Amino acid sequence: MNWSAEAPANIALIKYMGKSADNIPLNPSLSFTLDKFKTRVEFDLLEGANQDEWDASQNINEADQVRFLKHLSFLKETFGIKENFRVRSQNDFPSHCGLASSASSFAALTLCAAKAASELKGADFTDPTKVNLLSRKGSGSSCRSFFKPFALWDVEGARPIELCGIKFLHQVVVVDAARKEISSSEAHKRVLTSRLWNGRPERARNRLEKLVEALKHNSWKDAYEITWDEFWDMHELFETSAPSFGYMKDSSQRVLKLVRELWNTEGDGPLVTMDAGPNVHLLYREDQRELCNQFRIQKLGDYVVLGEGER
Ligand code: DP6
Repeated sequence: MNWSAEAPANIALIKYMGKSADNIPLNPSLSFTLDKFKTRVEFDLLEGANQDEWDASQNINEADQVRFLKHLSFLKETFGIKENFRVRSQNDFPSHCGLASSASSFAALTLCAAKAASELKGADFTDPTKVNLLSRKGSGSSCRSFFKPFALWDVEGARPIELCGIKFLHQVVVVDAARKEISSSEAHKRVLTSRLWNGRPERARNRLEKLVEALKHNSWKDAYEITWDEFWDMHELFETSAPSFGYMKDSSQRVLKLVRELWNTEGDGPLVTMDAGPNVHLLYREDQRELCNQFRIQKLGDYVVLGEGER
């Protein structure tokens, strides 16, 4: 017997940064789901084995393997699964492109275990309103990957949120594809030591309210300013932590400057945000497709750009 599941990555516009035990966020967050960046997880039933194992074809570092299998043990215990599996996990986007894949991989792992449990136990365990709560325990941001196009995650868990009828075009400018030295899990702990931490959950909550209003009322420039302030807030927390750390590169700053110039000259442009990494995410409205193409060709031609219009 075997099972498989796919789940997409997501990019937060209002960030989950700072958490308590079990990945309970200290503020609500809002994300856009990245349908073009998916992880696929597969299980083969292992007859007679006494533990789960990775498929030999997998090239995954040891710390990630341990974290993944630990979450699988938790899921099996929750669902009452006694059987053991051979596990494969594969991203359908280029690996080593510096995109955090923990959200998509933990969501896909959780869904795959829920599918296996459903068949082995003869009941349906795949309801996303319940599965996202389990996925959160593996990696917080993964709980948002069960909903689209936007997900809101607050004390009640994650759910889809209706913001506007507009289709979004997503691009990520990959300025550095290396694995990050400070994981997001570590970043969540360090930001609590920042001199700027005071008031952070309230700032995020206020921005979330304002962003939802801006997107509902098509106030695109307001949405751009709110998301701009939000990722800088998070990166300033990194830079002012003890010990301080950071992901911003000169090349990230160059891309940000290009986006700012676009806004200043055209009075329009994409929403822009950055994760806990150096790469720059851009979100355009569908009616900006031409602007999106022109900007990529004329200004981002020297960079690797994944997502919309990718070549
Ligand atoms: C910067 O979900 O990777 O991407 O719960 O420890 O696995 P863990 O952290 P993780 O944190 C993601 C933080 C972020 C912002 C966000 O996605 O909201």
